[in-house]
Amino acid sequence: MNLIYQEFIQAVKACSGPVLWVVDEHALHLTPSQLGDTSRITFITNRVDQMNSLTEDGLTCHYSDFEFDALPQSGFDLVLYRVSKEKAIVHHVINQAAQVLKPNGKLVLAGGKNEGIKTYVDKATKYLNAEKHIEKISKDDWIAELKNQHSDEPSLDDKNYRELIEINQQNGLSLISKPGVFGWNKVDQGSAYLIEQMPEFMKRLNLSKDQVTQSVIDLGCGYGYLLSSMPQFGFKTLVGTDNNAAAITAAKATLAANDLEGEIIAANCAEGIDQKFDVVVCNPPFHQGFSVEGELTDRFLASARRLLVSGGAAIFVVNAFIPIESKAKHYFKKVDELANNKKFKVIRLAGKKPYQAEL
Ligand SMILES: C[S@@+](CC[C@H](N)C(=O)[O-])C[C@H]1O[C@@H](n2cnc3c(N)ncnc32)[C@H](O)[C@@H]1O
Repeated sequence: MNLIYQEFIQAVKACSGPVLWVVDEHALHLTPSQLGDTSRITFITNRVDQMNSLTEDGLTCHYSDFEFDALPQSGFDLVLYRVSKEKAIVHHVINQAAQVLKPNGKLVLAGGKNEGIKTYVDKATKYLNAEKHIEKISKDDWIAELKNQHSDEPSLDDKNYRELIEINQQNGLSLISKPGVFGWNKVDQGSAYLIEQMPEFMKRLNLSKDQVTQSVIDLGCGYGYLLSSMPQFGFKTLVGTDNNAAAITAAKATLAANDLEGEIIAANCAEGIDQKFDVVVCNPPFHQGFSVEGELTDRFLASARRLLVSGGAAIFVVNAFIPIESKAKHYFKKVDELANNKKFKVIRLAGKKPYQAEL
């Protein structure tokens, strides 16, 4: 197990009162037996997959866009937080932690040097007027324990974390977003490239004559850019789904701002969505790295396959160097590159292959 989580478990065991553990996108492989008495531990997460695995393990977990107001104020002796990738989230969580910590309660912050952990620790120390103990636990990682003494210092700049704002007017659409959403303050270049290929994709749709192209689902919808662009291609039923609570809030707001009817569903890779769709659009979360992250890629492709009506098709955009085709061939008979600008490629997936179990 990751050294940071080993340290967190030690901190839980050393504390006899209520504990709050903040969980975001970082993988957390815990077994309840490692934690001792779990009845005094509350988890809070903004990710559906994390909530599912924690609650399946019988642990208490709040799922929200890090809304700490729903938790007992000044109610925790210990708050544990492995810092997130985005600065606004980290500042928001530190500000919120100050509200839920008891006087003299401890905030434990951990993370990598390249993630700015030392700067976050300094800022939190000042904000909490804290006694600080900081320790290097590996080549890259640091952990700090801050004893909350309440100060009159202004809270950390969280870029108005809770506020939804209009980030852009694009093709007559009003795009509403907020910190905490993937690429929250811009239109993703890959997604814009996918939209450019939609007319060609629609021409090739091969639905039977009595099927009218009507329904579309956006898998990993973010703040809803792709989804809210779909009515211009004739879609009437709009569904978006994402794992991240911030994205769910923003995507609902984007639909509302454009007077669009649609459903936005919080789910892990569309798990639990039984409806079928004529089209799946997707800008998956795995295009940033240098390889196709195994399990997540398969899950997005499998979901796309499962969610389509027969004769339907999916359109994915990924970084040009991602070899998604080899995996996609396990799920679809037709895997065609619609466009490639050397940075991104847009792939059309059609002709569902039966699952192994159905063969
Ligand atoms: C590259 S972004 C695309 C966002 C949006 N479609 C756009 O065009 O701006 C990928 C999205 O996938 C979401 N995501 C990551 N893991 C997920 C999962 N397990 N299930 C559902 N969505 C997930 C992320 O929260 C993010 O919003």
